[in-house]
Amino acid sequence: MIQLKDGVYLVGAVDWDVRNFHGYITHRGTTYNAYVVKADKVALVDTVKAPFYETLLRHVKEVVDLKDIDYIISNHAEPDHSGSLVRMAAEAPQAKIIASERGAPVLKKYYGLDVATIKEHPKVDLGGKTLNFAPVPMAHWPDSMVSYIPEDKLLLSNDAFGQHLASTGRFDDEVNQAELWHEATAYYANILMPLNRSVGRALKALGGLSIDMIAPSHGIIWRRDIKGILDHYVKWLKGVTVPRVVIAYDTMWKSTQEMAYAIAEGVASSGVEVRVFNLTENHRSDVITEVLEAKAVLVGSPTLNNHVFPTVADFLAYMRGLKPQNKIGAAFGSYGWAGGAKRVVEEEMRQAGIELVENDLEFSYKPTEEEWRLAYDFGVKIADRVK
Ligand code: FEO
Repeated sequence: MIQLKDGVYLVGAVDWDVRNFHGYITHRGTTYNAYVVKADKVALVDTVKAPFYETLLRHVKEVVDLKDIDYIISNHAEPDHSGSLVRMAAEAPQAKIIASERGAPVLKKYYGLDVATIKEHPKVDLGGKTLNFAPVPMAHWPDSMVSYIPEDKLLLSNDAFGQHLASTGRFDDEVNQAELWHEATAYYANILMPLNRSVGRALKALGGLSIDMIAPSHGIIWRRDIKGILDHYVKWLKGVTVPRVVIAYDTMWKSTQEMAYAIAEGVASSGVEVRVFNLTENHRSDVITEVLEAKAVLVGSPTLNNHVFPTVADFLAYMRGLKPQNKIGAAFGSYGWAGGAKRVVEEEMRQAGIELVENDLEFSYKPTEEEWRLAYDFGVKIADRVK
């Protein structure tokens, strides 16, 4: 049990082992953060994923008698936060459960629970501390909301500002900074990137609040670098990019790989950073993390059965759903007796909203020296576009 503020405790669970979070590879596990807020009255804010119920219960009991819990707040109905709600409510039947207006029907559908909403209870006075609720639709689901305690300048932000990071340190100043910022970036890229506009609206709604601590439902609690994480969110939601090129490709007999490497050499020769990812060796969620801030994304595929290579199709489908902003891009590839993959890749990239840079980089069998040079020169051209 960890105290955030006088009377506010972290009572959630650390999941050291999870490695796949609905399709997103979580190399460093995650946490499901729940909080007890104690004043004259007591509230439990959020619960944890169902398998971690016993941990939650143990932590809650360390700070409060279950019979003294007056409210259970459900900021978000997704099961990683509501999965222990039914069992917790059974332990504290006197507690009133409150969710957003859009969360109540979801909790009904998942668990058969009838709960109060923030329409009836836009705030809860705990006597010495107040919980103010604000809906933040689509950050992450339509039902998402945040709870704010003005007396402590503490924002319980649920999914927003989270990271999938299991760690011993539970505050931003207690963990490895490179790991923290990588995981915050990966979290935004894989979860919030397609919801940029909603995140923007949420930030605007929270703009007037005085905040000196942000306690999300995943990962560490921000107490030192509040400005840093807020500034990063503004940058990400606006699609601000850096002059960097990401090349994602797969290959059958190394021809598309040769092209990827030739393009990369061309980009690098102009002094622009390039990062190359083979899509068999790298998970889509790791590659999309790299795409978030890069100005250019190039995708290479061999033609297989007149179509795109399966790993490339997988990545394109993922990227199309996540809708990266402000990117230029291009497709390239190789084929045997008939091409076709490049056209498919280009169409998918167009659908993802990426501005295509035209090229003729679709070569048969193995690139000749001349074709290698064309790929290299294209890299130089892309570098010029991103500088
Ligand atoms: Fe962490 Fe959208 O649930």
